[in-house]
Amino acid sequence: MKHIQKFNSFINEDVYFNVNKQKQMSILASLGYNIIKAIGGGSYGNCFLEDNGNIVKITNDRSNAIASQSLIGKNLEYLSNVYRVIKVVDNNIALYVIEMESCDTKNLDKNKLKNIFNLFSYKKMNVIYKIYPNSYVRDFLKIQEEARENEIRLDLQNSGNFGLKNGHLCAFDLGINYLHSNKAKMIEQEIEVYIEKN
Ligand SMILES: Nc1ncnc2c1ncn2[C@@H]1O[C@H](COP(=O)(O)OP(=O)(O)O)[C@@H](O)[C@H]1O
Ligand SMILES: [Mg+2]
Repeated sequence: MKHIQKFNSFINEDVYFNVNKQKQMSILASLGYNIIKAIGGGSYGNCFLEDNGNIVKITNDRSNAIASQSLIGKNLEYLSNVYRVIKVVDNNIALYVIEMESCDTKNLDKNKLKNIFNLFSYKKMNVIYKIYPNSYVRDFLKIQEEARENEIRLDLQNSGNFGLKNGHLCAFDLGINYLHSNKAKMIEQEIEVYIEKN
């Protein structure tokens, strides 16, 4: 356990994610994931489609990993379900691999979503829904409620973090607000650790 804790010091959530694609693919293959295609990502990670239809994300975002670990085993309606989180330690880098449910991003009405982002501050959604009964506003309220119940932090201003599930909006790319607390450390200890042998 000691050597694993030592590796924690290498994780810095502010560091730009710069592991090359080939390395990412080889890590995923060594964990047994059968990847069909790369979906894309941002500054802190990259997403892939698995042959069973799940999404596998590889990231150095500790907040994302802890949030995901805390959701394993929960049957969520408005957030993407999480199946497995693995911390991969390879020489002096540590990454997290998150396997989760895929939400439908193809049939998402991006314009409708963007209109809502443009028109409203999500903080006022409650009031807005009374005067503007748009189904996405209603779904936002549900997403916020489920996130609150599970102590999840959402990025509600980025349309790239939404998809559809059971005919309504669903959010992914989740984080936590208690990153520097003991609770975060405790959840992190629950994450499976995989040490790459070179
Ligand atoms: N659970 C998911 N269901 C469907 N698509 C997803 C899911 N998670 C990620 N994606 C796709 O991968 C892209 C990047 O994932 P995201 O978790 O938002 O990464 P980043 O931290 O780089 O923003 C998303 O914009 C989306 O297209
Ligand atoms: Mg995102």
